[in-house]
Amino acid sequence: MPGTPAVPIAGNRFCIVGGASLVGSATAGELLDHGAAEVVLFDNFAFGSDAAIEHLKDHPRLRLVRGDVMRMADLLRATEGMAGVLQLAAYMTLSMDRDPWGGLDVNIRGVQNALEACRANKVAKMVFASSNATYGYGPGVAGDLVEGTPFHSAGAPPAAILYGASKIIGEQLCRDAYRKWGQDYVVLRYSTVYGERQHYRAANALYIIETYDAVKRGEAPQVFGDGSETKHFVYVGDLARANRMAFESAATDVAVNASGPAPITTLELVKLVTQLAGGGPEPRFVGSEPGKVRLTSGGAFRIAHEEAFRAIGWKPEVDMAEGLRRLITWRERSNASGR
Ligand SMILES: NC(=O)c1ccc[n+]([C@@H]2O[C@H](COP(=O)([O-])OP(=O)(O)OC[C@H]3O[C@@H](n4cnc5c(N)ncnc54)[C@H](O)[C@@H]3O)[C@@H](O)[C@H]2O)c1
Repeated sequence: MPGTPAVPIAGNRFCIVGGASLVGSATAGELLDHGAAEVVLFDNFAFGSDAAIEHLKDHPRLRLVRGDVMRMADLLRATEGMAGVLQLAAYMTLSMDRDPWGGLDVNIRGVQNALEACRANKVAKMVFASSNATYGYGPGVAGDLVEGTPFHSAGAPPAAILYGASKIIGEQLCRDAYRKWGQDYVVLRYSTVYGERQHYRAANALYIIETYDAVKRGEAPQVFGDGSETKHFVYVGDLARANRMAFESAATDVAVNASGPAPITTLELVKLVTQLAGGGPEPRFVGSEPGKVRLTSGGAFRIAHEEAFRAIGWKPEVDMAEGLRRLITWRERSNASGR
């Protein structure tokens, strides 16, 4: 049985599975800043990239390990001597749409493999990146989404449901490991992540980038429906802090939401991005695009994060205006440097 579920960062070693990623790169920085003895970024680069971790590559306490979460031997080697494992490796909805079985393998078997590696190497705690997709999508998703809110699937695209269901299974595998061998864990259900080193793999964050690019080209940004539908994002730096605090806290055997300070309507988002891009044409209201995966609720919802404060002492700090400003500054800089 592992010891206390509270894992201090300073002096300890951590492995981030799927670490060459948006969330992984931010969390690695956070753990190193808090004195981690070593951070191992384990990734097969299916989606991750050198660019995502460029800013860390010469850090003396960072080690990059190329490996596949589907190969137990790779994982066993990478997690040896670790106090904590952050399990991020996954296919999100857009990738799940292209390759459902690849996604189900990584999102389910990959999680079990990470748990087995924790057991074999006596890793004290695993933090698992789940998602607000565990509440599903479609018109049934409305109001305050709290941890006990059931899964809605009617009217949603199959890939979004496969993704959400695979995260539900991942969470249950963590609970099972806790019950069977006392594996301490915290599940964080991230809402849509955005921030520096943004990628194009998450449908809602992609919408921010598409809107920004359209405005910069002088084109009218597109708003689907009447623009009143809400989205609830979380800034990547806030999530990095949540991951760190999940290790440090005494919490175990819990699943909590990690969302930004407040939701935003599609129209508000488009107006904010347009303003941050220096102004541009009025938005164009359009219907749905055939063949494209869109994650809609059709109504207003908020992802409650109060439980995360109770469990791990975390609450989000960066609001949309500030987070978008940071994302856009990063994008302008990377465009200017040709990356
Ligand atoms: N980005 C979001 O909006 C969002 C929202 C909710 C939850 N999440 C979850 O957070 C986590 C991180 O998200 P992200 O945006 O940083 O994702 P990402 O796509 O940047 O990262 C996933 C990483 O996993 C790696 N990976 C995939 N298959 C692998 C395999 N077989 N072996 C080893 N590595 C593998 C990829 O190369 C990639 O670097 C994921 O689990 C995702 O489901 C993300």
